Amino acid sequence: MDFGAQYAQLIARRVRECHVYSEIVPWNTPVAELIARRPTAIILSGGPKSVYSPGAPRVDPALFDAGIPVLGICYGHQVITQALGGTVDRTDAAEYGATRLTVTRPGVLLRDLPVEQQVWMSHGDSVTAAPDGFTVTAATPSTPVAAFEDVSRALFGVQFHPEVLHTEHGMEVLRRFLLHGAGARPSWTMVNIVDEAVGAVRAQVGDAKLICGLSGGVDSAVAAALVHRAVGDALTCVFVDHGLLRAGEAEQVERDFVASTGVELVHIKAADRFAAALAGVTDPEQKRKIIGREFIRVFEEAARELEARAEAAGSRIEYLVQGTLYPDVIESGSPDAAKIKSHHNVGGLPDDLQFGLVEPLRTLFKDEVRRLGEELGLPEEIVWRQPFPGPGLAVRIIGEVTPERLEIVRAADQIVRDEIRRAGLDREIWQVFAVLLADVRSVGVQGDERTYGHPIVLRAVTSEDAMTADWARLPANVLERISNRVVNEVPQINRVVYDITSKPPGTIEWE
Ligand code: XMP
Repeated sequence: MDFGAQYAQLIARRVRECHVYSEIVPWNTPVAELIARRPTAIILSGGPKSVYSPGAPRVDPALFDAGIPVLGICYGHQVITQALGGTVDRTDAAEYGATRLTVTRPGVLLRDLPVEQQVWMSHGDSVTAAPDGFTVTAATPSTPVAAFEDVSRALFGVQFHPEVLHTEHGMEVLRRFLLHGAGARPSWTMVNIVDEAVGAVRAQVGDAKLICGLSGGVDSAVAAALVHRAVGDALTCVFVDHGLLRAGEAEQVERDFVASTGVELVHIKAADRFAAALAGVTDPEQKRKIIGREFIRVFEEAARELEARAEAAGSRIEYLVQGTLYPDVIESGSPDAAKIKSHHNVGGLPDDLQFGLVEPLRTLFKDEVRRLGEELGLPEEIVWRQPFPGPGLAVRIIGEVTPERLEIVRAADQIVRDEIRRAGLDREIWQVFAVLLADVRSVGVQGDERTYGHPIVLRAVTSEDAMTADWARLPANVLERISNRVVNEVPQINRVVYDITSKPPGTIEWE
């Protein structure tokens, strides 16, 4: 249950890392609806409010009589306390960051764990008296009730955040709750996920025909491979090459993806059409809109052609496969965010295409999708590919997009990725790429000659989910090699600068 936590998705992912399936629901989901879904257990997340502030999210106390095991984390710990008659106080002792926890009575959650351990805290209010029937199991120097449990009712609470890595034994605490406190079975494994998903797709589509738009990214590739495993040749993939891809990507889709899956692929080379539509355009939002629009048109034409072909053969295309992931469908506890950029995906197709949707990854997180891709035998280059925006290199050229500028940024990007891979950093870094400042020039000197070239910006970030990000502390020797190679091998570039802005306030991409 999401009370507006920063960490709600992280909690859900950690639960799945314990091989227990999890979903996120908003805090105001009616208890009857929750019970009807027959959860094995419920976790109440943290949240930004004080339980005493006006309008603070609460739960119906009936939840605690439903016989469903509950773990409250941070704000959730306080919600349990308040609902069941304990005391939450605004003490002067706010705790933020690493804190020493002392286990006073091990109970179920802290059994066999060290008496002293580091936990991660982030709270102002504290529980000062546990509700009747609860045993206090741990304290910190300023929080007397840092953990409690009532084993007879299977209700548990922790003030600290077991989901964050800085909590030394956080995963063990979660696992103890799930397996021992709630009696969950650890059956959420990749093999089961593949079997279930294949069965679900077969049940949904029967012997109908399907199409899938491939973007070159991991999500659509895994969705297509999974559906192909389920329905074989009833699936046709359409790959629209808009000419804005990274070096080698189009070939990789055509060669490696087809080789590893045997999918039928229609490859549409539309680079000229996109280049013409983008000529003279410099505004980032306009670029995004044009690319989205052209993409839909090209895809639509291809789909209509395939439809006509299927009809001539006496069948119809009834479904469109999409690589929608769980984070896109979560109904979160927080209000809608302001629109920062118009994201372009293969989705957003016009209604008159009239396909049913098949979204086999709708319940999965990105890391699960990657593991699923491995399980399905997709090549590492596809499965471990870094996220890449739908509008491609167009949003990495600041200024007008031209074929020459695309060549420049593509060449620089290839060097950057190459060096990061050689340094063994590609899985640690969420995204790394080059941005071309196409309308900026600076003076340099190379081989005793004056140069007047463009800078590229090197952008490398670490992130869990792209919602927030930090600039990566790349080793100086890696930065040096990238800089040397780019200015030596890409003649139009004479300067490399490193972007040291986090998100927020920056975004990951420059446009
Ligand atoms: P920003 O730049 O908003 O990006 O911090 C967050 C993440 O989204 C990717 N991105 C996109 N992905 N279509 C996509 O599918 C898009 O239009 C798009 N724009 C940005 C970006 O690379 C980062 O991973």
